[in-house]
Amino acid sequence: MASPAAGVVVIVGSGLIGRSWAMLFASGGFRVKLYDIEQQQVTNALENIRKEMTFLEQSGSLKGSLGAQDQLSLISGCLNIQEAVEGALHIQECVPENLELKKKIFAQLDQIIDDQVVLSSSASCLLPSQLFAGLAHVQQCLVAHPVNPPYYVPLVELVPHPETAPATVDRTHALMRKIGQSPVRVLKEMDGFVLNRLQYAVISEAWRLVEEGIVSPSDLDLVMSDGLGMRYAFIGPLETMHLNAEGMLSYCDRYSEGMKRVLKTFGPIPEFSGATVEKVNQAMCLKVPADPEHLAARRRWRDECLQRLAKLKRQMPSQ
Ligand code: NAI
Repeated sequence: MASPAAGVVVIVGSGLIGRSWAMLFASGGFRVKLYDIEQQQVTNALENIRKEMTFLEQSGSLKGSLGAQDQLSLISGCLNIQEAVEGALHIQECVPENLELKKKIFAQLDQIIDDQVVLSSSASCLLPSQLFAGLAHVQQCLVAHPVNPPYYVPLVELVPHPETAPATVDRTHALMRKIGQSPVRVLKEMDGFVLNRLQYAVISEAWRLVEEGIVSPSDLDLVMSDGLGMRYAFIGPLETMHLNAEGMLSYCDRYSEGMKRVLKTFGPIPEFSGATVEKVNQAMCLKVPADPEHLAARRRWRDECLQRLAKLKRQMPSQ
């Protein structure tokens, strides 16, 4: 486990994602400084983290080898960014997804950081070449994009700027492993990175199938939750190909013509509007009414499922 003396991690923005990062870094034994422009946000975040960690400890799902109290004592709020970044080994930016706001914050940080710290953004859809353009410390910058909720879904996409030093990516990769996350290296920046490109490909075909009346919205979701999703929690699409025949070459030999035939029938990019959005919305609201209480309850249920799945994945013997 990391020693707090090894340095501190600064979280800039104490909203949903900032709080999750704070908990993950504390679970790895790092000292965490949580910075926000709003004092109330920091106070709420610390209170929310305390409740979450207590609950996680009681339910046996707290990460790391320290108890909740010890992990909580590693996290403190901070309203002075200059003070926060002093001696930090890693800064994780988690402010809202707004290019101008993020660029302003990186320009401020660029003035006050040293040459040792890694400056990392949680951005979901903004490219490193836009985020870090013109920064003196660009070699120390990258995107580390988590997946919601990061405490239960460990994937982190590491996306470098064209000028990011390889050592910055290597260090961040090692740091993510140390806090129990599962980092992947996106070798070149690309709009949507990898996760959202895969997600949008699935959403797009799901939408077309419903629009064309091939399947109902609820059955479409079942195809994923009780079909593809079952194995994708353990093996990806490429390994699935490998296992579903006598290896990859045999799969491509047997199925490539069929795949290409079906792929040629895929339609254009959907508009996500009109009669189809009404049809999908009606089906979703029948299952989960779109008011804050029902949505929150369903999210809690989802998080509990993910928590148990994460536990199962940890318990499965690796091969
Ligand atoms: P949020 O809205 O919950 O939190 C943003 C926080 O930033 C707030 O506490 C706000 O007070 C603070 N803030 C605003 N301006 C600031 C400034 N100038 N200096 C310091 N703090 C400031 O947002 P959320 O959902 O946590 O998202 C943060 C980032 O993480 C975004 O880039 C988002 O795209 C990304 N992300 C979000 C995911 C999600 O599912 N919510 C998943 C993966 C990435």
